[in-house]
Amino acid sequence: MKDLPEFLDPQRMPRHVAVIMDGNGRWAKKQGKPRSFGHAAGMEALRGVVRASDDWGVSCLTVYAFSTENWVRSKEEVGFLMNLLLRYFASELDELDEKNVKIRILGDVNGLPGPQKKACENAMARTKDNTGLNLSIALNYGGRAEIVRAARELARRAAAGEIDPDAIDEAAFSGELYTQGLPDVDLLIRTSGEMRLSNFLPWQCTYAEMVFGDTLWPDYTRELYARDIAIYQSRDRRFGGVKTQIGDKA
Ligand code: FPP
Repeated sequence: MKDLPEFLDPQRMPRHVAVIMDGNGRWAKKQGKPRSFGHAAGMEALRGVVRASDDWGVSCLTVYAFSTENWVRSKEEVGFLMNLLLRYFASELDELDEKNVKIRILGDVNGLPGPQKKACENAMARTKDNTGLNLSIALNYGGRAEIVRAARELARRAAAGEIDPDAIDEAAFSGELYTQGLPDVDLLIRTSGEMRLSNFLPWQCTYAEMVFGDTLWPDYTRELYARDIAIYQSRDRRFGGVKTQIGDKA
């Protein structure tokens, strides 16, 4: 664990942090710049949070980069975000791999344009045996679609006689989600003053602690990330039962 701020308790770090990186457009608008400017700055903020997660021993970081609903944005903005994804991998993949980061894409990769699909598949294949930070990037992702996809797969296997419908439990269902094998989200962060889940990890966030702040995503720093983790550490997590200390096994 490197450079962990002293006000954070290393024993009570969230295992899985999910981030809705919101406010890029408003950040750009405030400076009279096009929305794309905000997304490019947002990518820099993402770099900082990935580094901090790696330094501080957060084992899973999941970020919302592009939802299934985002396709309705202007052709220019969608094109810019798709290019940014290629730029992200081109500039970061070597360092991420070196740092033992395992990349996974959550969402329908087949629905991405060819070069983006290839870049995602390459990033996942190259880092698949890494054992450090699990960095998941939600791309062309929708939470309800993810749940329907899991239900469809379980139904298909039940119809084929491969599984007993009565044996389908929460663990079996979790095993069909894009996040298969990852722990549930402990801490959900959303920037820019919005307080919604917006179809992001609805199953996985069932017991997540949510922290909403006013900062626009491009202004989100390592210090603000530490503050949000401190807010998480100050909460009592009860999971529907009695008081537990964060860091205890639920
Ligand atoms: C929400 O802000 C942000 C997005 C839809 C895109 C998030 C993308 C990045 C942070 C870029 C880096 C990521 C990768 C991996 C390419 P908004 O545009 O909805 O802002 P607004 O609500 O102010 O309009």
